[in-house]
Amino acid sequence: MLLRIQNLKKYFYKGSGLFTASRVHVKAVDGVSLDVHAGQHVGLVGESGSGKSTLARLIVRLYEPEEGTVIWDGRGGFCKKRSHDARRDVQMVFQDPYSSLDPRFTVRRILLEALSLCGEKISPKEQTGRMQSVLASVGLEEGALGRFPHEFSGGERQRVAIARALLMKPRLLILDEAVSSLDVLVQQQIVELLLQLQKDYSLTYLFITHNLKIVRKLCKRIAVMYRGKIVETAETDELFKNPLHPYTQRLLAAAMDYRVHETAWIENFTEKFQLIDKGNSHFVLE
Ligand SMILES: Nc1ncnc2c1ncn2[C@@H]1O[C@H](COP(=O)(O)OP(=O)(O)OP(=O)(O)O)[C@@H](O)[C@H]1O
Ligand SMILES: [Mg+2]
Repeated sequence: MLLRIQNLKKYFYKGSGLFTASRVHVKAVDGVSLDVHAGQHVGLVGESGSGKSTLARLIVRLYEPEEGTVIWDGRGGFCKKRSHDARRDVQMVFQDPYSSLDPRFTVRRILLEALSLCGEKISPKEQTGRMQSVLASVGLEEGALGRFPHEFSGGERQRVAIARALLMKPRLLILDEAVSSLDVLVQQQIVELLLQLQKDYSLTYLFITHNLKIVRKLCKRIAVMYRGKIVETAETDELFKNPLHPYTQRLLAAAMDYRVHETAWIENFTEKFQLIDKGNSHFVLE
């Protein structure tokens, strides 16, 4: 198991009242458990505010959890002061590459910084070689090295962000709405690129998106999040064929433009709710 998340919780608080419970503003992630095997491509879907990005941030320890554990490669979670290896092992690509790429630096400098984070001692010639080959793998020309982030289109900039992540040779790549801000055609190109990279690198993906059509193409397994909880998880084909949770049914219906019979369901979860095994590695919160 590459990544095992157990009962993870992250609450955001408001004000400075006396009792912690009364200060809870939002239970952004509320008891999430999820296993990701090496080489698996997992999609995390759910409406805005359901806790997807917070979960990603908990995985890379940008946030400390209230409760629960993240077990990485069977070795326990990353400690606060993460080692070079761990920092390299998980890479994140965000929605807006403009804010994640320093506008003052050329792509060469941006990629060199990523290489230096790897902590390997390699010659300048080898550095250039690695940068060139990673740029080629995301479909960018060598000339890109001398250009600044603002000199690229949105789609190209996202390729630079993906190239930077790949350069670190991560074992898990978390893409958080990485194609959401791009127009449909460029989205398509990046999706094709990711499909190709899935083949070329033995990467494990956690792909976070609103877009069910994309996730269906890219991911073998899907986890559906709602109000801080995973309400359903199954293999992609199974989930599309046989969505069991009313929220998943609504989500799929909305994405695929059909209507579902509205079933009554409980929107407020209690501690009693658990993911129940329905067979066929299909789990539903009940
Ligand atoms: N730093 C923060 N401080 C306070 N509340 C936060 C913070 N970050 C997130 N939240 C809240 O936690 C909940 C989950 O947010 P999160 O960003 O994880 O959702 P998301 O599923 O990624 O949404 P989107 O699809 O819009 O990106 C939301 O209600 C959000 O307002
Ligand atoms: Mg988000």
